[in-house]
Amino acid sequence: MIDRVTIEKIMDSVEIVDVVQDFVTLKKRGVNYVGLCPFHNEKTPSFTVSPSKGIYKCFGCGSGGNAVNFIIEHEHLSYPEALKFLARKYNIEIVEKELTAEEVEQKNQRESMLILSKFAAGNFHENLFKHQEGISVGLSYFKERGFRHEILKEFSIGYCLEQKDSFTKIAQKSGYKLNYLIQTGLTIKKENYTFDRFNGRVIFPIHSLSGQVIGFGGRTLKKEPKAAKYLNSPESDIYHKSRVLYGIFQAKKEIVNKENCFLVEGYTDVLAMHQADIHNVVASSGTSLTVDQIRLIKRFAPNITILFDGDEAGIKASLRGIDLILEEGLNIKVILLPPGEDPDSYSRKLSSKEFKEFLVAEATDFIRFKTNLLLKETGDDPVKKSSLIRDIVQSIAAIQDSINRSVYIKECSMLLKVDEGVLYTEVNKIRRKRSEQRYRDISRQEEEIKEKPGKRQPQVFQETTDVQEKEIIRLLLLYGNRDFMEIHSGEEEVKTLTVTEFFINEIINDELEFDHPVCRQIFEEIQHMKNNEQKIEEKYFINHQDQTICDMVTNLLSPVPEISKIWSKHESYIETEEMKLKEVIPGILIAFKNKKILITIKKIEEELKIAQEQQKAEVIENLQTRYILLNNLKKQLSKDLGERIIL
Ligand code: GTP
Ligand code: MN
Repeated sequence: MIDRVTIEKIMDSVEIVDVVQDFVTLKKRGVNYVGLCPFHNEKTPSFTVSPSKGIYKCFGCGSGGNAVNFIIEHEHLSYPEALKFLARKYNIEIVEKELTAEEVEQKNQRESMLILSKFAAGNFHENLFKHQEGISVGLSYFKERGFRHEILKEFSIGYCLEQKDSFTKIAQKSGYKLNYLIQTGLTIKKENYTFDRFNGRVIFPIHSLSGQVIGFGGRTLKKEPKAAKYLNSPESDIYHKSRVLYGIFQAKKEIVNKENCFLVEGYTDVLAMHQADIHNVVASSGTSLTVDQIRLIKRFAPNITILFDGDEAGIKASLRGIDLILEEGLNIKVILLPPGEDPDSYSRKLSSKEFKEFLVAEATDFIRFKTNLLLKETGDDPVKKSSLIRDIVQSIAAIQDSINRSVYIKECSMLLKVDEGVLYTEVNKIRRKRSEQRYRDISRQEEEIKEKPGKRQPQVFQETTDVQEKEIIRLLLLYGNRDFMEIHSGEEEVKTLTVTEFFINEIINDELEFDHPVCRQIFEEIQHMKNNEQKIEEKYFINHQDQTICDMVTNLLSPVPEISKIWSKHESYIETEEMKLKEVIPGILIAFKNKKILITIKKIEEELKIAQEQQKAEVIENLQTRYILLNNLKKQLSKDLGERIIL
């Protein structure tokens, strides 16, 4: 844990322009800087950095935030990692919260293991290129297979010498303790002797997301090995097999760029794909995907393309696991390689261009792929067919997006020659069962939390805009009469809008309504006052004849103790908010509109569910159109209002 004072020191030191400029070429324009957005593809710059406010904002894709957010988003780091990144840049020493003796011990241990792993990777890599045995055995093996030096270097590929404990000896001579050599699995200890786990193997270091070496895969070079073809590091404090993907460190940037991640089986497949100029690729290293690995990919892209070797039994075995990916909300495509080929071998038979074209041409949607694959063997057997339908329905039910689901139902109904309505009913049955199960799980968790006082209660998603409405009313009562912005109403004419006029324009133009009855009443009275050119008076509302209005207004206007305490050190809370009205007011409008849209989208989703159950095609189509419209609106909204915030 980084302590508060250090965080403040970092925040005080960072210069947003300076931070962004390390990654984006910026040009000064007025008080701001502009450049090409690093988060989406664009040809004209819509990425703006405001040095005075310390923030960046892209009008194209809507991303925005402060320097820490930028580093988090750009470098794919966690919050503490981003803080450390900035601390390094500004030479600020990180003071971590005091740890217990046990925590210190554990942290030191992890760090020692990481340092040792780095040393080992370096040693193996050096063997491959500099040691006589490494060159004649290891490097020549890779050369024979057609791997170029630059790829071997990018992935820090190495070679562990044949002699049984030569690495262990070198490491110990360099000061590394046997204890850590054993814990990382680099050394295996028998009763009265030790030996290197990987001796005589070529080494594939496994990197964490941030590029640290956390484990190794070692391949034997023997043609008909007695031992396993590959050996991997054992589970340890630094290496959790189920949470890493081979190649993620080298692939992450390109996964973001391409919005897609290729998934292959083996280490050499990853290398070969890179060599064919395809860099958004990771390997599951021979095991089936875990939820943690899927979520890791999901942090970078919404699409996964799985490359299958052409062995049907193997494919069928992994089909079930793929439903997990669907449940995580990712879109899946599948590519089937020709019989006997894996991505490594096949990419070598084609030019890079041909291989890329093959990938584009062969990528098939997962559900279509699965349906066709299973359909091939059911033939006319009704029993087999009904089990196939049940199977496909399970997969469709795993899809999170309701529109996608209905598209698949339509398609599968044609492929399988089953009535669409029957499929809907089955899919919905499964989804209902799953959501009941989830609901039971959540209730049980909540019960458990209640039983353990002191644990934080989970936040319940509130389906109203009450919070935003109250805030708008509060701002209207406090600042309603002030001038807010100038607009050009005629040729030369400039008109000044007050805060009240601005709010009313925005809310009326967008045909928004207040949900909270008291807020609605106050807002209507304020509109009425504006139409009669009356001033907005707090006193009038505080002494209103309607007691519910008095109560609300009094509540809204009484200072919030925590906030006023924070600000009272330097200046009063009110003054600070006043200074920021240009941000606060559009900000609350965004929040209000955004929440309204989210609520409407949720409602439509519910209605869609019902309409689909009742199979009302026309209603479904209607709702889907509105659904898409609203989603576009949501995107547009952050763009429009974002612009106003900075400029
Ligand atoms: P090459 O034969 O060198 O091209 O490797 P490959 O990646 O094509 O091997 P294969 O397709 O046989 O296996 C795919 C992946 O499964 C490998 O990259 C390993 O991660 C894993 N794997 C294969 N064999 C073994 C084994 O014997 N033990 C372990 N632990 N993993 C293995
Ligand atoms: Mn292979």
